[in-house]
Amino acid sequence: PCLFLSLLQFFFEVGWCYQSAFSCDHICTEPDTWGNVSQQCNGRSQSPINIIKSRVSTEKDLPSFQFIGQQDAFHARLLNTGHSVQLDLPSNIWVQGGNLGETYKALQLHLHWGKNGGPGSEHTIDGEQFPMEMHIVLIKEEYNSLSEAVSDREGVAVLGFFFKESRNDNKKFNPLIRALKRITSPSNTTLSGVSLEMFTLPQNNMTRYFRYDGSLTTPNCSQSVIWTLFEDTVPLSSKQLAAFSQLKFPSGKPMVNTYRPVQPLNGRQVYYSGGHVSVVSAMVLITSVLVSSLPLLHHTT
Ligand SMILES: *[C@@H]1O[C@H](CO)[C@@H](O)[C@H](O)[C@H]1NC(C)=O
Ligand SMILES: *[C@@H]1O[C@H](CO)[C@@H](O)[C@H](O)[C@H]1NC(C)=O
Ligand SMILES: *[C@@H]1O[C@H](CO)[C@@H](O)[C@H](O)[C@H]1NC(C)=O
Ligand SMILES: *[C@@H]1O[C@H](CO)[C@@H](O)[C@H](O)[C@H]1NC(C)=O
Ligand SMILES: [Zn+2]
Repeated sequence: PCLFLSLLQFFFEVGWCYQSAFSCDHICTEPDTWGNVSQQCNGRSQSPINIIKSRVSTEKDLPSFQFIGQQDAFHARLLNTGHSVQLDLPSNIWVQGGNLGETYKALQLHLHWGKNGGPGSEHTIDGEQFPMEMHIVLIKEEYNSLSEAVSDREGVAVLGFFFKESRNDNKKFNPLIRALKRITSPSNTTLSGVSLEMFTLPQNNMTRYFRYDGSLTTPNCSQSVIWTLFEDTVPLSSKQLAAFSQLKFPSGKPMVNTYRPVQPLNGRQVYYSGGHVSVVSAMVLITSVLVSSLPLLHHTT
C-alpha cells in the first residue's frame, strides 16, 4: 500500500528516521537508505559497530578520564527531538585525559533504547545488544558548535555508556524518567537540580573502555568522532528502561528501537584500555619471555 508513496521518496527529499518510525502516513528515510539523506552515511568509517573482544588491541596508553564540572548541579532543557530524548549540558562541563589529546567540552547527552526494555543499544559487544546506550557528545574546546566541529576528523568525542537491567531502581535516574511524561510528543521541558555524575558511572569504573574512530550515528553521519565505550554498565530497572517507550515519534508511533544497525568495520582497529586485564597480560608476557628463553639457557649451559 505504501508503494506509490515510496515513489515520492525517490523524487523529494524526506527526513531521516528509524525503521520503527516509518509508516505509510509518515514516509521517511530509513537507516538502509540514509545515504540518500547524506552521502557520508555510506562512508567507510561509520558507527555503530560490533566490538569483537578477541580482536581488540590492548593499549597501555589509554589512561582514565578527568571530568571537570561533573558534580555541579545544573538545570537544563530536556527535549524530545522527534528521534530521541536529549538533555542539553552546560558549557562548564569538560573532559580531559583518555588519550583524547585535547580538552573537549560537553554539548548534550541523549539515549538510544529498545522496546519496553528490550534490546536497544547501538554498539554491540560480541553480538550482545544492551537495553540502552547513552551518548555524551563533546566537541574540541576551540569550536562553537557541532556543525563546526565535524569538519575536523577528531572534532567530536562521544562517551558511550551501556545500560543493564537491574533488580532495583537506579534512583539517580528518577528525575529524568519522571520528566519523560512531560515530553511524550516532540517538545521540551526543564530538568532542574541534576548533575552529570547522576547519569554516568563512578569515576573508578571509567577506566575500562573501548576506543575507535567512527561517525555520528545519525545523519549527516560525519566521520569525525573519537568513540569511547565504557565496559562497565549503568544499572536501570526493567520498569525504568520501559519508561522510555512512552515517548512518541512525530507520527505518534511509540518511540522505540531508536538505534542504527551496526556498520562494517572496514579494517578499523578497536583498542581497549586494559584496566583489570593488565595483571593477566603481564603474566602472559613474563611466561612467554621465560618459555622463549629456555632453549637459549639450555644452549649456553
Ligand atoms: C536511495 O534510495 C533508493 C530508493 O529507496 C535506494 O534504492 C538506494 O539504494 C538509495 N541510495 C543510497 C545511496 O542509499
Ligand atoms: C554535515 O557535513 C558537512 C561535511 O562534513 C558539514 O560541513 C556540515 O556542517 C554538517 N552538518 C551538520 C548539521 O553537522
Ligand atoms: C522548546 O519549547 C519552546 C516553548 O515551549 C518552543 O518555542 C521551542 O521551539 C522548543 N524548542 C524545540 C527545539 O523544540
Ligand atoms: C565498579 O567496579 C567495581 C570493581 O571492579 C565493581 O565491583 C562494581 O560492580 C562496578 N560498578 C559498576 C556500576 O559497574
Ligand atoms: Zn547517539
